Amino acid sequence: MSVREEAPLSAEQVDEVIERFPGRTGDVLRILETLQEMHPLKYLPEATLKYVAERKGLALSNVFSVVTFYSFFNLNPQGRHTIMVCRGTACHTRGSKLLLDGLMSESGGSANGDDASSSFTTPDHELTVRTVACFGQCALAPVVSVDEDIHGHMSDLKLKRMVRGIVKREAKDDNS
Ligand code: FES
Repeated sequence: MSVREEAPLSAEQVDEVIERFPGRTGDVLRILETLQEMHPLKYLPEATLKYVAERKGLALSNVFSVVTFYSFFNLNPQGRHTIMVCRGTACHTRGSKLLLDGLMSESGGSANGDDASSSFTTPDHELTVRTVACFGQCALAPVVSVDEDIHGHMSDLKLKRMVRGIVKREAKDDNS
């Protein structure tokens, strides 16, 4: 697997987004959302936040409070694929901790946060693994989502196979 190149957004790209949303404060949310979506590693680097604050005439602390308030903003580089493991009671009793530990050992990630809210991104930025409190699909426990597709009755083996399949496909696509 190759490590993905980090390609920061250029000042021109950021300027173009800022001009698209000319309101002073209300549009900051949409600007940040758009910039995160455009970033190849789906996050907002500090330099981008500083630049947006400066251009919009806002204190950096205000921009930081926006990105820390909304959980969909990322301050760290994300993986190309996102796997969410449910850690709710039904899934826990049916072995979701095992799924999480298996992913961690399989992908070389190390947890960031406590068990209930841990997340990690693999060093090659292929995968980000997060936990979720409940998908509302408890009858299918244990439940995971892979790039927003829900998979129920998951087993450690099935999940590892799925992850290997994704990574293999990506490597093939990158080499073609
Ligand atoms: S506890 Fe996992 S889906 Fe509800």
